[in-house]
Parts: sequence; structure tokens; C-alpha cells
Amino acid sequence: MRVLITGGSGFVGQRLCRRLKEAGHRPLVVSREPDQVRDRLPEECDIRRSVLDFVDTPPDAIVNLAGEPIAARRWSDDQKERLIDSRVNITRDLVTLCEQLHSSQGRTPRVMVSASAMGYYGDQGDREVTEETPPHDEFAHRLCKRWEEAALPARDFDVRVALLRIGLVLDLGGGSLEKMLPPFKLGLGGRFGDGKQFMPWIHREDLVRAILFLLERDDLEGPFNGSAPHPVTNAEFTRTLAKQLGRPAIFPVPAIVLETAFGEMSRLLLTGADMRPARLLEAGFEFQFETLDAALADILG
Ligand SMILES: NC(=O)c1ccc[n+]([C@@H]2O[C@H](COP(=O)([O-])OP(=O)(O)OC[C@H]3O[C@@H](n4cnc5c(N)ncnc54)[C@H](OP(=O)(O)O)[C@@H]3O)[C@@H](O)[C@H]2O)c1
Repeated sequence: MRVLITGGSGFVGQRLCRRLKEAGHRPLVVSREPDQVRDRLPEECDIRRSVLDFVDTPPDAIVNLAGEPIAARRWSDDQKERLIDSRVNITRDLVTLCEQLHSSQGRTPRVMVSASAMGYYGDQGDREVTEETPPHDEFAHRLCKRWEEAALPARDFDVRVALLRIGLVLDLGGGSLEKMLPPFKLGLGGRFGDGKQFMPWIHREDLVRAILFLLERDDLEGPFNGSAPHPVTNAEFTRTLAKQLGRPAIFPVPAIVLETAFGEMSRLLLTGADMRPARLLEAGFEFQFETLDAALADILG
């Protein structure tokens, strides 16, 4: 099967391309810099600059991962616009591709798995959160809502759309863990604020398996929480990571320090949701890494 992947050069996309190739599929990757990302991806990947460049190579399935990194810089008005536009515009291009293939060939991709994030729910305190939980209105929610709404019109062209609300993706070589490891290894780690905020997480390997699961299962559509069944609070995350590294974690970072340093973006560190993958579990998806201890042991071991 030909699978078109936006953001295929990223932390999740690279692993997905590798797993797709191993399973005998052909990854088609959209990247702003095809020449620069070529050596990060399997040789068999067809890499082109824009979604519509693939109109002559119709994909059987789509995975939509592209977007400006959420924590790259402070959320100024310009940066908020960049965070939204970098996701919504490429998602709209994917819908346009589906529309063009539908009208010119009568044959569209069977499915689009489109990324979203735990931020969809906004701050939920300690309430257990499933796909049914009403969101809290804040910037992260509005960003994810617009991203999801941009993907849904693909359904008008007979494309099954699954929205994956992804938790913190854990592995070496990128993501949040890479940023956390240096201070924790030096024994300078600590919880953020009071540490009670939830941090839904997922091992990168399980996230890629969940994407493949959603690509394959023709009966699954709509939103799916993409995080392990046992989320932890920030304090538990801190303790577990420190224990795995054999280091103390005794330097809490007060909320006011994070708020001063990062402004509104500090909400990523100080708020969260006890997000559960209710619909993935209901559909029979089996996580390889259900607990944070097991995931970190695999990653750091
Ligand atoms: N990693 C996590 O913990 C996590 C958690 C929740 C949700 N997510 C979401 O899941 C998706 C994949 O995550 P990831 O960690 O693999 O992301 P990533 O490593 O930051 O990669 C995303 C890709 O998006 C493209 N991109 C970056 N900035 C862009 C911009 N301004 N305009 C257009 N394209 C841009 C880049 O591809 P090119 O440079 O090749 O164009 C990049 O490789 C992201 O959308 C992210 O928001 C991730």
C-alpha cells in the first residue's frame, strides 16, 4: 500500500516510515526540504515538497503529522498563528488532494489518520478523560479543534478519517524526553509546580503501532486518545524517571518561574488531563508498554 505521510521527517514520522517499509508498504513523504531529510528516511521513500505533488501517485492511505513544534518558542500572537496555520493548511491540502483524486479518478485513499493532541481537552484537573469528555476552552483546545475540523471534510470524498489525540511521545532521539534527560542525569530534575497535573504519555513504538492499527481497521473512525492506559502525574513522572536513572529529583521548579519564563506556553508544563485511550482499548488495541516504568526501562535500558 502507498502511504502518504506529512511530517514524515519528524520524530514520529521517521519511525512510522521505517515500520511501514518493513511491513512492505511504500512511504510517500511530504517535506519542506526533501534534500535535507532524505538521509533520515528509508531509501524507498518518495519525498516531495507538497501534498499536491502526489496527485500523479495516488496514495492508498494518509497519515497527517506535520506541524510547527508546539514548544519551540513563546506563544506570541504570531507564533500561535504559525502553530495553527502549519497544521491547518497542510491538512486542507490533503482534503484537496482527496477531492482531486475523487473527481479525476473516482478513487481516493481509503483512510486518513490525522494527528491531534491531548491539548484538545485543555486543562481537566484530576478528572478521568475519555474521547467523550467535553474540552476546556483555551488555546491548545482551539488549535486542536481547528486541526481536527480541517481533516473531517475528507469524509465527503469517501475517506475514513481517524483523529489521534496524541499524548507525550517518549523515546530517545527527540520529543520531550530528550529535553528532560540532561538535567535529570545531572540530578537536577524535579517536578513542575505542585506536580499534580497529569501527563498522558505513550512510547513512540506504541504510537506507531496505533497508527498502523487505525490504518488497517476499516471500522474505526472519529477521535482516538493516543496515550498509554496508565497516565501519571508530573510528580510520578519525575519520580519514575529519576529512579530509572538512579538519580535524585529534588529540585522542584515553582510554577511562577515557569510562568515568567514561558508565559502562556507554561500551561503545557503546569496543566494536563488524565487522558485514557478508551476507544483504542475498546477496539482491541494492545499496548506493548502499559506502564511508565516499563516504557522508560525499554527506552533507557
Ligand atoms: N512528540 C510529541 O510528544 C507529540 C505530542 C502530541 C502531539 N504531537 C503531534 O504529532 C505530530 C508529530 O509529532 P513529532 O514529534 O513527530 O513532530 P516533529 O518531530 O516536530 O515533526 C513534525 C514535522 O512537521 C514538519 N514541520 C515542522 N514545522 C513546520 C511548519 N512550520 N510548517 C509545516 N511543517 C512543519 C517538519 O517536516 P519538514 O521539515 O520535513 O517539512 C517536521 O518533521 C505533530 O504534529 C505534533 O504536534 C506530538
